[in-house]
Amino acid sequence: MILVAGGTGRLGALVVRRLVERGLDVRVLTRDPARAAGLAGPSVEVAQGDVRDRASLERAAAGVDVVVSAVHGLVGPRANSPATVDRDGNANLVDASKAAAADFVLVSTVGAAPDSAMELFRMKYAAEQYAAASGVPTTVVRASAFMELWIELLRQTAGRSGRPLVFGRGENPVNFVSVGDVAELVERAVTDRTTRGQTLEIGGPEDLTLRQLAEAVQAAAGRTAGARHVPRPMLRVMAQTVGRVKPQLGRQAAAALAMDRMDLTFDAGPIHRAYPELSMTSLAKVLANDERS
Ligand SMILES: NC(=O)c1ccc[n+]([C@@H]2O[C@H](COP(=O)([O-])OP(=O)(O)OC[C@H]3O[C@@H](n4cnc5c(N)ncnc54)[C@H](OP(=O)(O)O)[C@@H]3O)[C@@H](O)[C@H]2O)c1
Repeated sequence: MILVAGGTGRLGALVVRRLVERGLDVRVLTRDPARAAGLAGPSVEVAQGDVRDRASLERAAAGVDVVVSAVHGLVGPRANSPATVDRDGNANLVDASKAAAADFVLVSTVGAAPDSAMELFRMKYAAEQYAAASGVPTTVVRASAFMELWIELLRQTAGRSGRPLVFGRGENPVNFVSVGDVAELVERAVTDRTTRGQTLEIGGPEDLTLRQLAEAVQAAAGRTAGARHVPRPMLRVMAQTVGRVKPQLGRQAAAALAMDRMDLTFDAGPIHRAYPELSMTSLAKVLANDERS
């Protein structure tokens, strides 16, 4: 039995499907069982719980062989934050794995580091460290930015104006990976115990600026209008002032500012040399698949 915390999310739902297709039994941890309705099936159980609530995790992890963490607290609400979810919640999942004598697979971020400008990356690093010190057999899968998430954000913000919204200048190159490729690697990490003790880093074939990504999304929709931009000074005000009243908005503005200038490039060569069968899906392919569906 595999417990997938975050199994209702963009990545987690793909991981659940892949594990089920492999014939494994899966338990999905969610705060709201209604969110897991689309995953229902004879080999899928749903456990209601919250990574901030240790007792709920002990129940959910009972009898489990591997615990997968695909959660994050970047977008709230309220006290759901990188500190409470990505750092402390993951530490709770590590403890629950230990109590159940289960292995642990942690989904983290490329660039996770103790001194990162991005709070999320610092909290992911803390979780990686906690898992490493715990003695629980752990595989870390670090991923770059999910292409499908950013395509969706650009499409949504284009709305009626037909012009997507880019936070900041949008001229910083960022590595984007297709979430399906990440799910493939997470499946491998769950089922291949020789990966324990390793950190596997996955990215996509291209480093693109948000401006370039917006242009590609526009072209795929048959539009030519350029993106609108939220200027950096406005993001700073949002991070500092609005963030006092609405912490999750402040966090998102701070993350957008960091994303506009941090080094977020990535070389996907090493992971594909280590796992030649792993898919490497291009932006063009993701956009073409969307058009067909
Ligand atoms: N998005 C990216 O660009 C990106 C890049 C690199 C790495 N990652 C990592 O990949 C993983 C999946 O990201 P995603 O974008 O697919 O996530 P997502 O679609 O935003 O889903 C987030 C998941 O976290 C769960 N969650 C949040 N707070 C929770 C809590 N307190 N207790 C239990 N579950 C909680 C949610 O479950 P319920 O709402 O059902 O409770 C949901 O399933 C995360 O670890 C993320 O940090 C993401």
